[in-house]
Amino acid sequence: MVGQRFAGKTVVITGGGGGLGGEYCRAFARESAQVVAVDLDHSGLDRLEKSIIKEGGHCEAQCADLCRESDVSALFERCARSHGGVDILINNAGGDLAYNGPIEGLPVDHWDTVVNRNLKTAFLCARAAAPLMKRKRYGKIVNVSSRAARSVGWYGAVTVAYICAKLGVIGLTRHLAKELGPHGINVNCLVPSFTISGPLLQHHWDQMTGGERDSMLRATPLGRLPEMRDMANVVLFLASDESAYMTGVAVDVNGGSWMA
Ligand SMILES: NC(=O)c1ccc[n+]([C@@H]2O[C@H](COP(=O)([O-])OP(=O)(O)OC[C@H]3O[C@@H](n4cnc5c(N)ncnc54)[C@H](O)[C@@H]3O)[C@@H](O)[C@H]2O)c1
Repeated sequence: MVGQRFAGKTVVITGGGGGLGGEYCRAFARESAQVVAVDLDHSGLDRLEKSIIKEGGHCEAQCADLCRESDVSALFERCARSHGGVDILINNAGGDLAYNGPIEGLPVDHWDTVVNRNLKTAFLCARAAAPLMKRKRYGKIVNVSSRAARSVGWYGAVTVAYICAKLGVIGLTRHLAKELGPHGINVNCLVPSFTISGPLLQHHWDQMTGGERDSMLRATPLGRLPEMRDMANVVLFLASDESAYMTGVAVDVNGGSWMA
């Protein structure tokens, strides 16, 4: 632990077993938060929990399928029992599934899986966290959208289901900001661009031609891909009282590759 910025705060981070989610968990733990890291299975979570505890931080790994209402209810009931509620929710679970064909061949199962994992998880978690936050008259919700939702065709591997789900996350953010603001709850959204967060994204980067990689970097005024900490720094800001007067905002963290 190096700071006290989130001392006494309980933060639930979904998709904590993944690349960026793990980075957010470590960043909050270093600032003395009580981290509840949630993911589908224990493999990534166990390693994360151990490494955070070894560094002197607090982390509880919780296994849940956040597309299932019963799993989400159980998760937030445990938070209420063990932590007296939740202060911060980072709705980071998500991701795309590979599909390269035309829309007429897109399997409905693909659509459902991608929309559920990116949008339904965020809806269910916000729905369960809201009453706990209202009780405290305090809460921060940070949803995670994607640069892919800003303009079509930024890079090849993105599907229509992912774009629609991530646009939905921005809509969810705006609605919740309006509904929950009067209860002392800020709801904002991180909009990250392509970040090498693990083997899958590394593979996408390696699969691109040199020309594709160059054109992506040329279209990025800052001229580089982001580091995972570039995302974590903004998530922590949006979850902190430093952004107390911001709500309903989708914050682009993309090196200038898309500007509103
Ligand atoms: N890495 C990027 O380039 C990038 C860019 C824009 C947006 N994002 C978004 O950032 C978030 C994190 O991305 P990442 O690169 O770390 O991906 P990742 O695949 O490493 O992490 C996503 C995690 O979400 C978990 N998850 C998925 N469905 C779940 C469910 N139903 N219940 C519980 N957990 C579930 C997965 O198991 C995985 O561990 C995602 O929402 C992604 O769409 C990533």
